[in-house]
Amino acid sequence: MVKSNALSDNRTLGPEKASTPIMPHAKPRVTIIDTDPGIDDAIGILLALASPAFTIAGITTVAGNIGIETTTRNAGRLLAFAGREDVPVFQGAAAPLSRPGPEPLNLHGEGGIGGVDLPDPIREPEGLNAVEWLAGFLLDQPAGTVDVLALGPLTNIARLVLGQPDAAKRIGRIIAMGGAIHEHGNVGPRSEFNLWADPEAAAAVVASRLPLVLIPLDVTRRVRATRALVETLSASGKPLASMVGSLIESYFESTANRESRPLHDPCVMLFALAPELFRVEELSLSVDIGSVEEAGALTIDGSGTPVQVALGVEGLAALDLLARHLAAS
Ligand code: RIB
Ligand code: CA
Repeated sequence: MVKSNALSDNRTLGPEKASTPIMPHAKPRVTIIDTDPGIDDAIGILLALASPAFTIAGITTVAGNIGIETTTRNAGRLLAFAGREDVPVFQGAAAPLSRPGPEPLNLHGEGGIGGVDLPDPIREPEGLNAVEWLAGFLLDQPAGTVDVLALGPLTNIARLVLGQPDAAKRIGRIIAMGGAIHEHGNVGPRSEFNLWADPEAAAAVVASRLPLVLIPLDVTRRVRATRALVETLSASGKPLASMVGSLIESYFESTANRESRPLHDPCVMLFALAPELFRVEELSLSVDIGSVEEAGALTIDGSGTPVQVALGVEGLAALDLLARHLAAS
């Protein structure tokens, strides 16, 4: 049993709140993870693999935190570590739709995944590229039954929307980490990395009016991993939990902030698991595809496109849910 008070950063938790139960969902959701692993991506992927609520149909990779070869290899390494060779990996976009890709981020450490001890991939990436597979899989599944959890730049999803609209509109829900509404950006004053890296892709996905839930920095910065969480995860004795503890530890090493680290991408999985922990509003948004420093910035604009956006979260409850899913794995 994971002690929820281990998750606080030495603050009282306040009135004891019933933890969100790990309820075996009536039926696991068929889920695709589109990702640029990346330390926080890796934590989200391991959380999804640990949770009975997801049937992971495949992982599609995109360049972002680091180059496409490394993000694809890291996806394979995480699956090998989790003993999940049943999950195929499909390599996706090596660069944004129409502008140069970002320089690799040092934030994600050695090999783009914090230098943690992961095995080599057991299963090679599939021959089909990500968008070809996405289209075929979506056309093959009952419409509306497949969720896409997007953890990186939206290039693959945009290519699907632009090139295979009949397949794209069969997506049940896209839950994407990206953007900043009232929160300052992490690239420019208003731009967040995933949308900044490929703003044309973000604009295309928003304009598609597909069922999109955006998980911006406004909430991800309030789900903060502490050393207490690392201790809780490591003490669980469960391999996936311990690996997440190591990934968080490496996150601490890669930055000056030693107190806590925001779990950006895992918030996508946490929203899928417990949307009741988040406050969502519909905002009419436009995506800046003009300027360089503000590329990808979101503006609430009456003539924009309606998007469901998470603007609030019960941060400690979300961390508790993450720890309990991993400790129960
Ligand atoms: O801004 C945070 C996002 O950028 C996360 O997805 C992180 O992995 C990086 O890709
Ligand atoms: Ca990411």
